[in-house]
Amino acid sequence: MNRRNFLAKTTLSIGATTLLPAIGCQAAATQNMGVWEAVRTDFPIKTEKIQMSQMLLASHPKQVSEVIEKYRKALDENPAEYIEANFPPLERETLMAAGKYLATDPREFALTDSTTMGLSLLFNGLHLKPGDDILSTTHDHYSTEKSLDFAAKRNGATIRRIDLHGPPSTATKEEILDNLEKAILPNTRIVAVTYVQSSTGVKLPIKAMSAVIQAANNNRTSDKRIYFCVDAVHGFGVEDITVSDLGCDFLVAGTHKWLFGPRGTGILWAKKDAWDMVSPTIPPFSSAFLMWMDTIPDGPLDFYSKMTPGGFHSFEHRWALKAAFDYHLTIGKNKIQQRTHQLSSMLKEGIQAIPHIKLHTPVSTELSSGINCFEVDGLDAKKTIAKLHEANIIGSTTPYKKVYARLTPCIINTEEEVQQCIMALENLRA
Ligand SMILES: Cc1ncc(COP(=O)(O)O)c(C=O)c1O
Repeated sequence: MNRRNFLAKTTLSIGATTLLPAIGCQAAATQNMGVWEAVRTDFPIKTEKIQMSQMLLASHPKQVSEVIEKYRKALDENPAEYIEANFPPLERETLMAAGKYLATDPREFALTDSTTMGLSLLFNGLHLKPGDDILSTTHDHYSTEKSLDFAAKRNGATIRRIDLHGPPSTATKEEILDNLEKAILPNTRIVAVTYVQSSTGVKLPIKAMSAVIQAANNNRTSDKRIYFCVDAVHGFGVEDITVSDLGCDFLVAGTHKWLFGPRGTGILWAKKDAWDMVSPTIPPFSSAFLMWMDTIPDGPLDFYSKMTPGGFHSFEHRWALKAAFDYHLTIGKNKIQQRTHQLSSMLKEGIQAIPHIKLHTPVSTELSSGINCFEVDGLDAKKTIAKLHEANIIGSTTPYKKVYARLTPCIINTEEEVQQCIMALENLRA
């Protein structure tokens, strides 16, 4: 194995001018409902059951599976030569696809194996010191909480977790922004939140929150700057967003949920002027390796080359991620958002009309996305989901201290399936 060839050019020389805007790449999508019937047939997932949990771990469409199989076969047949010849170009193609999807520079992405890995790499690598304040929330996932706890234990920063809003069903944008603004302290260096909460289904107004943080930063020197970190896994692949639509500094997402990418894939994105705020935890297999070997002179590294964990990976999965980005862009990000919101709204309106069920997710799509959480009077969440499973509806419970039942329709679902969920919920009795 010629390590020089293998690693060569992994510092990406991709001009920003090669980027296409993510919106407007909807070549094969058609305007009619036939699109969703076709989408459904792309997935091998069992449709005898009503699948309302793709948000946990996705089944992928054949367009993705076929590419995984292509790379798996090539790696099985001749692994060393294949990887030597293809590692830099296929890594680059994956990054280009991510850049196109979020309309940004591909060099701003590190490739990870999951949301959890991205969050840990980010929080563990942040340059914080004793006395620095991390502002987080009571709404975040275990992976955010624990990554922050582990990091703060090492660097001595303190963590405060605030309620951004009262009861989720009546949350408002104004109260979220107000609570955020009031909680920022002179020593706050990090704000860490979740875009679409898997605990409640609340979608935070990230762009407006970025503006609050930006306003605070306007009065600060760069060594006091606040960095805004977002676990975006449940908006990513649903909401029609680019990184500039969000305005945060760091964005983390697994790509094996709503994006329907290969299992064990994810991204960690960083705005260029935030790259210096974080150091790697795992040595990258990039041009950094060649620098270590004295094969090339030391030089600056882009975010991919600095932060993508090294070691060999399940490359057939990573490189097939491009196919998942392409799949979404071909359908159209705006259509996917519209459809997911439409099915979720239909479900929420149905649930709202059932007297024995309390909907916890806001109805407005301004503050919700594809996750819908609820409680049935006198029936705990686990029993609720078990009863739905008996009716062939695959829901999930929220893995939090307060447990709710959760249904999360996506573009593989139909209106009829949503109606069946509503009927099954109407029939649920303690
Ligand atoms: C908000 C949130 N963040 C992180 C995760 C963990 O995601 P992953 O399995 O990609 O690590 C989950 C799991 O669904 C989640 O709901």
